[in-house]
Amino acid sequence: MIEFQQVSFRYTGDAPYIIHRMSFSIAKGECVIFSGDNGSGKSTALKIVNGLLFPSEGEYRFAGQAIDRKQMEPSAFSKEFHQKIGFVFQNPEVQLFNASVFDELAFGPRQMGLPEAEIHRRVEDALRLLDISRLRDCVPYALSGGEKRRVAIASVLTMNPSVWTLDEPETFLDENGRVWLAEFLDALKRAKKTVLIATHDRTLQSKLADQIIAFRRPT
Ligand SMILES: Nc1ncnc2c1ncn2[C@@H]1O[C@H](COP(=O)(O)OP(=O)(O)O)[C@@H](O)[C@H]1O
Ligand SMILES: [Mg+2]
Repeated sequence: MIEFQQVSFRYTGDAPYIIHRMSFSIAKGECVIFSGDNGSGKSTALKIVNGLLFPSEGEYRFAGQAIDRKQMEPSAFSKEFHQKIGFVFQNPEVQLFNASVFDELAFGPRQMGLPEAEIHRRVEDALRLLDISRLRDCVPYALSGGEKRRVAIASVLTMNPSVWTLDEPETFLDENGRVWLAEFLDALKRAKKTVLIATHDRTLQSKLADQIIAFRRPT
């Protein structure tokens, strides 16, 4: 489903490698934890998986298809690709840009061209599941860190992607929020979603991981 073949990455041609000759393979329905120190390349790898960055060398394949700059040029392919894979960013602020929580959650389904009734159904379901119905008319920008995190997760949920990628989703969540997150991720797993999580949270790791991929700064 998701395959890195000898992937290397550096941000510019003369910068040091952030990722060096990394290979791994993730099967459909697997839950994989990216672990490693800060600066070890976990977020960079998730951006490659989401087609936001491209390998400097080596190949990244998604469902058998090589994902490179050319393939991801604005097209039916890239649009469809982004509907199959959802990304919960480390910092929720970078992914929230709509005027209300409702619009934020409706944005993806609207892009997909779904009928208005279906959009409403998905948004209401997500508001309920994330326990944020009361925030429906709020401006996402003004919410607390934990609320922003929930809105960001809800905005991926309304897209219903088959692959979920989450970058340190535990940050900004309090104790209850983290318990909720572990249950939510487990529910994704039971729903046979493919789930990639960059996390320092040992509980998530031991509860959910089918595979652990260790990141280390190349020397
Ligand atoms: N846009 C960027 N330009 C240049 N270097 C970057 C950029 N983003 C991250 N880096 C560097 O890449 C390395 C890996 O970062 P990152 O992938 O964020 O690691 P992690 O998520 O494991 O903390 C760090 O040294 C970081 O400073
Ligand atoms: Mg990171």
